[in-house]
Amino acid sequence: MGYDIALIPGDGTGPEVIAEARKALLAIEEVLGIRFNFTEYDLGGKRYLSDKTLLPDHIIRELGQMNAILLGAIGHPEVRPGILEREILLRLRFELDLYINLRPVRLYPGVYTPLKDKGPEDINYVVIRENTEGLYAGGGGIFKKGSKDEIAIQESINTRKGVERCIRFAFEYCTERNEKRRITLCGKSNVLIYESDLWLRVFEIIGREYPDIETDYQHVDALCMWLIKNPERFDVIVTNNMFGDIITDIGAIIQGGLGIAAGGNINPERIGMFEPVGGSAPKYAGKGIINPLAAISSAQMMLNYLGEDKAASALDNAIKEVAGKRLLSLEAGKMGFSTSQVGDLVVQCIRGNNLNR
Ligand code: IPM
Ligand code: MN
Repeated sequence: MGYDIALIPGDGTGPEVIAEARKALLAIEEVLGIRFNFTEYDLGGKRYLSDKTLLPDHIIRELGQMNAILLGAIGHPEVRPGILEREILLRLRFELDLYINLRPVRLYPGVYTPLKDKGPEDINYVVIRENTEGLYAGGGGIFKKGSKDEIAIQESINTRKGVERCIRFAFEYCTERNEKRRITLCGKSNVLIYESDLWLRVFEIIGREYPDIETDYQHVDALCMWLIKNPERFDVIVTNNMFGDIITDIGAIIQGGLGIAAGGNINPERIGMFEPVGGSAPKYAGKGIINPLAAISSAQMMLNYLGEDKAASALDNAIKEVAGKRLLSLEAGKMGFSTSQVGDLVVQCIRGNNLNR
């Protein structure tokens, strides 16, 4: 009984933040009687440097049997950039077909945002990023490498099926979320004419099935500007892999930074993998000063994904309380507490919240 959860602590500060996320989930277990069976997997740069293995096939198969995966961070300063990303993180996204990358951008009361005159009522949107195609599919090649005639081609692959399932998910999500009931498609139809043609047509066709959802289109460059100037106009943004990657870093800083930003790589029919947006942050590793709230927030998204809404909202309340009222800052080393003390505060709130009910 219970949920089978794979933990991939990974590199750098990953293990420290996953330990705190696990602590929060154990508190949820204790208070709400949900059971989690954790299995830990050693993947990442440290493993690669010691035995040259990246992501063995049997591990992919085992992960595919889990209910969900919670990942800390993959990335190591001594491994050439691209290897771990492509062979572990992207391979997990592709092989488990985690076709949605869900990144909520929400400012909790009391949390600092670099946007002047904007508050929690203005900053509350979700980016739905296609997670298996586009420029990330790896199409293209490099020819006559090193010569004066060399050519580098990087292709964006967009399948009808991939675009459709992503856009449909966005409409369903927007309906269920029931906030502003508005979807913005983010693209670049004035330049990337072929890919945008497909995205816009599918957006139009699926949109007709949801007449009470307002639709809008923005070019990605203009959207970057609006995210800063008028974040309140956004509810759900749907976009391709590359643009989604870029605009969610803007989202992360606007909601208080990498200390709090969380995301989910989701296959709605199969499995979800949840991770803090922040990465391995090697310069903070082992010091006990990294903020675990982003990882704890990822665990909260995982609970939502598992359909454990009561548990998810208990955890969300705890995160809101700790982020907005207890910590001096969300930045590593400036929180006024150590990594594990922040985890303890979350646990206290989970227990307290429940007592108040
Ligand atoms: C992210 C990261 C990854 C991406 C990298 C590490 C491959 O930036 O999850 O946003 O580009 O998707
Ligand atoms: Mn990114």
